[in-house]
Amino acid sequence: MFQKLQTKWKVSGGRLLLILVTFATGGSLCGIAGRKILEWTGLEKGVLWVILYIVLITLIWPACVLLVSIPLGQFGFFKKYIRKLFFRMSGQKNNMVLGEKQQNLAIFASGAGSNAQKIIEHLSGHTSIKVALVVCNKAGAGVIAIAEKAGIPVLIIEKEQFFRGNHYVDELRAYNTDWIVLAGFLWKVPVGLIAAFAGRIINIHPALLPKYGGKGMYGKHVHEAVRSANETETGITIHFVDEYYDHGKIILQEKCTVTPEDDADSIAQKVHALEHQYFPKAVEDVILNSIIK
Ligand code: GRF
Repeated sequence: MFQKLQTKWKVSGGRLLLILVTFATGGSLCGIAGRKILEWTGLEKGVLWVILYIVLITLIWPACVLLVSIPLGQFGFFKKYIRKLFFRMSGQKNNMVLGEKQQNLAIFASGAGSNAQKIIEHLSGHTSIKVALVVCNKAGAGVIAIAEKAGIPVLIIEKEQFFRGNHYVDELRAYNTDWIVLAGFLWKVPVGLIAAFAGRIINIHPALLPKYGGKGMYGKHVHEAVRSANETETGITIHFVDEYYDHGKIILQEKCTVTPEDDADSIAQKVHALEHQYFPKAVEDVILNSIIK
């Protein structure tokens, strides 16, 4: 459990301890303060007392935790945590973070587009994040029909301009693109495009990087390599894109088992299921985390 929290909050063991101490101390402080306030009202203990107590501690909990977080050096973490909590509790998953600009996403895909479809569905009606564009390098690819059905503009790109021209940076800017998500996009992203969207390009790789990554490691090749190596598990890696193949900072990895009965196709199916389950939410989380400070 501690390991999971560490990964989720991206903190060291020592920092996790301080955060947990803040939670515990802030919570106790809040309980004491709640009881004291109710004592002043002179109210008898009973159902009303309990209801008021719950309402009170809900209201003062953030203040208590923030107060305790200051001497423990965790104010930054808790400010962000509480802001997110309110944001989620108020059912604002799909509402604009007050005062923030809508984030526009361009999905790059070369194939069937099942991941693109899941992301489009997940973000449909989301007023903080919008899939503003689908970029494809292959006429007739499945993803084009998916985008058209969802009313999303499609930009078909050609090799020369992508690798040696302006890398379509102007076109992407024309759609006010803030983020690029590679969902089964088979061309290597040129350095010029990476620089134009520094830290804002997310990729999904169908294996547990750094294993089975690099040039030529895409689609079925990955799953065949996993099969040949008799791996007992594989999975997905969602990561930021840098100038090297399958190399940037990892955002999330999820695993699935590989049994002796599995072949490349059945492994691909398991991996696809993981992608559909985790990719859309991971994209949303990365973007929301970047705008909720
Ligand atoms: C996915 O397995 C993805 O990880 C890989 O290409 C595949 C795309 O599948 N890079 P789809 O087009 O989204 O169905």
